[in-house]
Amino acid sequence: MLAQIKNKTAQLLEKIIDREEGGIVALLERPRDPSHGQLAFPVFSLAKKMRKAPPQIAADVASQIESLNDPHLAKVQAVSGFVNFHFRPEFLQSTVSQGVLKQDPARVGWSKQGQGKRVVIDYSSPNVAKPMSIGHLRATVIGQAICNLARTQGFEVTGLNHLGDWGVQFGKLAWAFENWGQDYDFQAKPFESLYALYVRFHAEAEARPELDQLGAETFKRLEEGDKKITDLWRWFVDISLKEYQRLWDLLGVHHDLVRGESFYNDRLKPTEQILEKKGLLEESEGAMVVRLDEEEMPPCLIRKSDGASLYATRDIASAIYRMEELKADLNLYVVGVDQSLHFKQVFEVLEKMDYPWAKDCHHIAFGMYRFKDQGKMSTRRGNVIFLEDVLEKSIDLVRKIIAKKNPDLPDSEKVAQQVGVGAIIFNDLLYDRVKNVDFDWEKVVDFEGDSGPYVQYCHVRCWSLMQKYGAPIGDEFVAPLDSPEEIELLRILMSYDEVLRMAFASFKPHLVANFLLDLCRAFGHFYHQHRILNASQPEIVASRMTLVRATQVVLKSGLGVLNIEAPTAM
Ligand code: ARG
Repeated sequence: MLAQIKNKTAQLLEKIIDREEGGIVALLERPRDPSHGQLAFPVFSLAKKMRKAPPQIAADVASQIESLNDPHLAKVQAVSGFVNFHFRPEFLQSTVSQGVLKQDPARVGWSKQGQGKRVVIDYSSPNVAKPMSIGHLRATVIGQAICNLARTQGFEVTGLNHLGDWGVQFGKLAWAFENWGQDYDFQAKPFESLYALYVRFHAEAEARPELDQLGAETFKRLEEGDKKITDLWRWFVDISLKEYQRLWDLLGVHHDLVRGESFYNDRLKPTEQILEKKGLLEESEGAMVVRLDEEEMPPCLIRKSDGASLYATRDIASAIYRMEELKADLNLYVVGVDQSLHFKQVFEVLEKMDYPWAKDCHHIAFGMYRFKDQGKMSTRRGNVIFLEDVLEKSIDLVRKIIAKKNPDLPDSEKVAQQVGVGAIIFNDLLYDRVKNVDFDWEKVVDFEGDSGPYVQYCHVRCWSLMQKYGAPIGDEFVAPLDSPEEIELLRILMSYDEVLRMAFASFKPHLVANFLLDLCRAFGHFYHQHRILNASQPEIVASRMTLVRATQVVLKSGLGVLNIEAPTAM
């Protein structure tokens, strides 16, 4: 939609200045101050060639555009070095009508740029036997939002769970189960018991280092296919997946494919052989490594001295699988910033293996959560913040707010869940993912602040206006709306498709979250400044309701992209 008015503007400018339309489009900006119109063209780049001062050029260009008398324009103004374009409400309205109201609401703002291409997105990917912590929340919700964004751009999406289901810890767990299993009630509390074993093993191993050796030996048996240990391992995986599924259901997360680390077991040898053939494998203190001296990185470990394979080896094999077998065009890893070095090494090794697609693998890193008085969270020490507790607490806070503010709300338990979970997701996606997030309960569920509930509430407000109006709402505007609040609301609605495009291009869902807040604020100004249902003329009422409907459609769509529900009452 925004592209349309940009093209229109560029066509006009092209008639006056000596520059191609495409080049002009790239220069057009959105003025910060809404009173400066909907688009601004900076003239600084013309100054040298025209040998005039920018304000003079801007004034000349503005007056020449004015004299074109283009029917789409209300006015053109020169403000210092900028030419500001104010469009007629009719043009903005017909753009929103075409781009929002006449579209399938489930695909509003979508593009076809990714058609025929596949994106594989590795996200959530927890480690068996460990509870999902608040840290996994980020890998889960950022990943799901990027899956949703990729779909809006027309890509085929494979959301993939690289479950942590292999490694020496499974030897330790199996050993712990064989020796201490009878102390726990696996029947009643399978996952809690598994995790308790895990915590106990690490606690006891601090005093008795020989336990690590026993764990390693048991893992060796697992790698060799020992039936008893393999059965135990399978059972541990099963217990864990059931546990995770509850949380994924609560968050509305759905993976298309589970390819845990163990999936690559029989692909590791072939991978090593390629490395060998390419002359990349070197011995170092009994282990096999790929040296990355030139890249100023520590060597990438491929095989340990005891023959055990490593996390990195699996990631090399998994990248080959995704690119060559799943035929991905883009391979994304939504994983915390603490694994940056790991991914740099893996991608560098793929580069050295001469895979032309190595450049299409990207680590989508994110920062950590910070709670007051709680350092970095580690599952091993057992002082972890469980994701489930955080979600439950949020739902409970919302439940209490609803009980106080809207005790007769139908389906209130379902709404409390939608709003409580939505609050946690929105808070996570509100900030640029690379930054750490300070977690503050007051902000998370603040119905009036920059929060999920605030956006959901704005959606409810639109919805209830539509219910009160009762009549069908047109997908065209029957009368021009020209107040600053209405023009601003139209301008924001018009930028939705562009926001989706940019959010995917940079893999930054926070652009969508911030857009939604802008939209809600603009809607709030409109709602408070203007009478909607009892405006003076029926055409104005109808037009304003069309604007309300466009807002409702875009809010619901944007929340959907973030994987947040849009209730119709709360
Ligand atoms: N299981 C890992 C963790 O929880 C994340 C896996 C990410 N994906 C990958 N291909 N390495 O830290």
